[in-house]
Amino acid sequence: MSLWTIFKVLIFVNLILMFAPIFPPFEVTYESLTFHKRPFDGPLTPDDLLDQAEILTTAVTGSELGFFKGPESLLIKDNFLYTGIQGGNVVRLDLKNPQKPWETVVQTGQHCLGQYEENKCGRPLGLAWDIDGQLIVADAAHGLLKVDIRTKKIISLVPSTLDIQGKHNRITNFVTVARDGTLFYTTSSTLFHLGEGVLEFFSSGSGRLLRYDPKTNTSKVLLNGISFANGVALSENEDFILLNEVGKARIMKYHLKGDLVDQVETILDTPGSPDNIRRVSNDRYLIGIPNPLLPDRFSLVADVIMKKSFLTRWVSRITYGMKMIPELINRHVFEHVWLQKASYWAANFEGMLPILPKYGLVIEIDGTGTILRSWHGPQGVVPFICEAIIYDGYMYLASPFNEFMARVRVEN
Ligand SMILES: *[C@@H]1O[C@H](CO)[C@@H](O)[C@H](O)[C@H]1NC(C)=O
Repeated sequence: MSLWTIFKVLIFVNLILMFAPIFPPFEVTYESLTFHKRPFDGPLTPDDLLDQAEILTTAVTGSELGFFKGPESLLIKDNFLYTGIQGGNVVRLDLKNPQKPWETVVQTGQHCLGQYEENKCGRPLGLAWDIDGQLIVADAAHGLLKVDIRTKKIISLVPSTLDIQGKHNRITNFVTVARDGTLFYTTSSTLFHLGEGVLEFFSSGSGRLLRYDPKTNTSKVLLNGISFANGVALSENEDFILLNEVGKARIMKYHLKGDLVDQVETILDTPGSPDNIRRVSNDRYLIGIPNPLLPDRFSLVADVIMKKSFLTRWVSRITYGMKMIPELINRHVFEHVWLQKASYWAANFEGMLPILPKYGLVIEIDGTGTILRSWHGPQGVVPFICEAIIYDGYMYLASPFNEFMARVRVEN
């Protein structure tokens, strides 16, 4: 074959990947998006507060994988800080003795050999206390769970295998509790697992917002077609719920009461994808932005790929191929742990880290979507922040990718 022939074949294959209407992954749609880079001024003016952060201990006892990686969600009770880490463990740190190791509270899944077996290990992404003081865990792999932290008993509320209006919650991601005990929660995707997050991210979106009624043990879908639906927070009066949409870098407001009941509106285009959200006081919400869209920095994803649907389709199909080829060989030809790992990492968000800015960013907004203030770490001492809470004079900083938890002193 001449070079010219090879060239023509390559062009042809890439045109198919970009434009062929039917090609795996099936059921996925793509769209062209425009991201406006917000100037970092006013309440977004950079400081370097997050670069002053203190890194907390990474020692952990009783965990499945034996190391501390990817603390995602943050919760406080009785002076303990709770978080979920890789390996499927919910762990806690005694804030009165923060030099002592993290202790394991529970494991959401089964025994597993490494992060590549995430769907077995479990992956707690969202934590909340319910009205009886039980721990509610939004576990990416195993669904919505209720955990008694004293007896360590785990009760399944919404398994990821359950069919809800024709689809499965494949990445149960975040949860918040209303005063009557109702749970509002998200699944980031109904097509892909967490380890395939990139595929959901580049798609038009299959995520959803759901409401779980503990009395009937049933869920109702409130919103569909959200691109990697993530954090949710209820307003003080429970008249609306804020919902972070990662793939479109925006915050939605879903009305639960009033004239606009059951309607949804976009209230803010965020400077990067909003991950988790926590209400910190009456009408103030803290949001972690793991991939800040910096005004003066070129972003391959936002400035090029996401702009054209044929490029997101192309990237997604190539990524899917890189995932499926080792998986199929492993399943049908010969089994090898390297194939399992290659398949796990191919479509994983962590693979995108080299092209993300190493920059810490937390923003605070009100219920209208106005940015009130922000905290920055331009040196990236604590990059990729997905959630922040303020407790007892400190802001705690979580991240699915960092191998530590950090905190920084703030005025209350
Ligand atoms: C709720 O329903 C699901 C799906 O049928 C089931 O697996 C789960 O055990 C139920 N949980 C409770 C607490 O009843």
